[in-house]
Amino acid sequence: MRRCFELSRLAAGSTSPNPLVGAVIVHQGRILGEGWHKKYGGAHAEVEAFRSVAAEDRRHIPESTLYVSLEPCCIHRNTPACTDLIRRERFKRVVISVRDPHPEVSGRGIEILKSAGIEVVEGVLAEEGRELIAPQRIYYEENRPYILLKCAQSANGFMGIRGRRVPITGALSQRLVHRWRKESDAILTGSGTFIVDNPLLTNRLWFGESPVRILLDRRGRLAQILPKRPQPHSPTLLFSSRPPAVPLPSSVEWLPYPEEPHALQKLMQELAARNIRRLLVEGGAEILRSFLQAGLWDEIRLGTAASSLAHTASEKELLIPTPQLPPEARWEQSFSLENDRWDIYKRKLPV
Ligand SMILES: NC(=O)c1ccc[n+]([C@@H]2O[C@H](COP(=O)([O-])OP(=O)(O)OC[C@H]3O[C@@H](n4cnc5c(N)ncnc54)[C@H](OP(=O)(O)O)[C@@H]3O)[C@@H](O)[C@H]2O)c1
Repeated sequence: MRRCFELSRLAAGSTSPNPLVGAVIVHQGRILGEGWHKKYGGAHAEVEAFRSVAAEDRRHIPESTLYVSLEPCCIHRNTPACTDLIRRERFKRVVISVRDPHPEVSGRGIEILKSAGIEVVEGVLAEEGRELIAPQRIYYEENRPYILLKCAQSANGFMGIRGRRVPITGALSQRLVHRWRKESDAILTGSGTFIVDNPLLTNRLWFGESPVRILLDRRGRLAQILPKRPQPHSPTLLFSSRPPAVPLPSSVEWLPYPEEPHALQKLMQELAARNIRRLLVEGGAEILRSFLQAGLWDEIRLGTAASSLAHTASEKELLIPTPQLPPEARWEQSFSLENDRWDIYKRKLPV
């Protein structure tokens, strides 16, 4: 099952809105085939694993176990149902980590296999299996994307200096953040950061595509600025409370900023409806605080540089403190990159 997880992650950023899934076919302790869901609309992991089995090994399939990180699907959408393949090829045993949260599949895939006389084992390494499909679970349970807050701070706990673009973490961290952009469906920032930093919000330092760009601009300050900035290929959603008075670049879509107390929740529903399952928030302090206060976060990736910010008295007055981590933040892991340390926190799940 660990190998299934490993394989599935090779497609990070390419399968959305579908989940990451890996599969391995084993006969008498020997791996006959393995595969993973590589791209949205493409073959599922079970099919890829089956196709990878050598012609001379196909005869072993009725005596083999299929390990798969997610319950096999039983619906025909972009591709045929995997339960049909498993029944047709007469696999002996299927071992699953977790059930599919898709309401049309959940539990039905397992039932179909069992009623065909196939032995099914579920719940293997279930915690890791659940983690892998967190974006899909959150979509079905909470109608919003998986929300990852990224924040870089100085050794003395500041995110930047007001009104100035200041690099905090180093070149390798920047590359890593671009990888995270590639693995996300969308990247979001606030008008404050967009005005001061002029960020492109694209993936340029890792292979693969760039996410959709989302700008939160309640007061409508960005419509005038956007046409003067370089326009990346990735589409941009601009949320502001009034329609722009000037024509926007063709890649930018204006959407009304919801005028209500739970505006961010509403915005997240809008993103979920647009098939955005993983959202990377690279906001300034105000945006991060709003997401934290609304409880709209699943993971925080906090990078801390080795050096402190601000050396003059006037700079010290303009420092932007890093928002406090919420009490539900559970530390998961740390790693170092050049002079930076990254700490990963996840939201404590209710017991
Ligand atoms: N170290 C880091 O990781 C990092 C990352 C990003 C930025 N920064 C730094 O942070 C600074 C900018 O910080 P900031 O706090 O001014 O910018 P910000 O958080 O990116 O943007 C704040 C602005 O977003 C708009 N907004 C729209 N919806 C909002 C909501 N629901 N909650 C909060 N704000 C909302 C507000 O302006 P309107 O009401 O006018 O729309 C607000 O003024 C820059 O200096 C930048 O360099 C650091």
